[in-house]
Amino acid sequence: TRRVRTRDLFAAKERGERWSMLTSYDQYTASIFDTAGVPVLLVGDSAANNVFGYETTVPVTVEELLPLVRAVVRATRQTMVVGDLPFGSYEESPTQALRTAVRFMKEGGCHAVKLEGGRRCAAQIEAITGAGIPVMAHIGFTPQREHTIGGYRVQGRGDSAEEVLADARAVAGAGAFAVVLEMVPGEVAKRVTAELAIPTVGIGAGPETDAQVLVWQDMAGLRTGKAPRFVKRYADLAGTLSQAARTFADEVRDGTFPAPEHTF
Ligand code: KIV
Ligand code: NA
Repeated sequence: TRRVRTRDLFAAKERGERWSMLTSYDQYTASIFDTAGVPVLLVGDSAANNVFGYETTVPVTVEELLPLVRAVVRATRQTMVVGDLPFGSYEESPTQALRTAVRFMKEGGCHAVKLEGGRRCAAQIEAITGAGIPVMAHIGFTPQREHTIGGYRVQGRGDSAEEVLADARAVAGAGAFAVVLEMVPGEVAKRVTAELAIPTVGIGAGPETDAQVLVWQDMAGLRTGKAPRFVKRYADLAGTLSQAARTFADEVRDGTFPAPEHTF
């Protein structure tokens, strides 16, 4: 077995074969997803919400994300691990972007980086790919800009579809190996996917993209409460864990645990 590489993802697009991506932030999920055959894992800046408990992705830092990247890389053998550049670590200049991407590769050990932005980040993508680091772009709704966008809103409706297409062309032209399309109408995602030679990875972008990504705690039902429309829950981990914790607490209280077989 060997790691998935960008050329495997190009070949999949040529064959018309869809693939999946999940977020991961720790060794157990990384190892399980790797063994389950998920070809790409993203150490997302969504760790801000899903690991560190911040309300948005804005506060999370490179220093907080790098140890998670290392854990995911160490726990996997086959998946390509993509490290997500957090807000504030690449916007200033192509030089800043390259410096941060190099840290993710050297200190994190990941195999590619991701950043948010279309036309306005083309120079950053060129600088990073120019140094030999694969870049996954992310356009449509970009959570790091939610205060400007005004919350979680579908991007590219009506006339603004052309904006999404222009961003897609810009990131592909700058050398990105793939592009995440977040919360764009299915018809727009379909057009982008047909036009671009590089794979598109949809989240809330309908069924016509080359790949699909979900945050793992959403996918597995660990996060409770109202999920966005694009989430499908494939398990009820919150229910399972809650039941296990209750039973443990009950058995300690009533003396059922530990039993003789747990005792030296
Ligand atoms: O950080 C993240 O989880 C992401 C994916 C949802 C694409 O950027
Ligand atoms: Na992200």
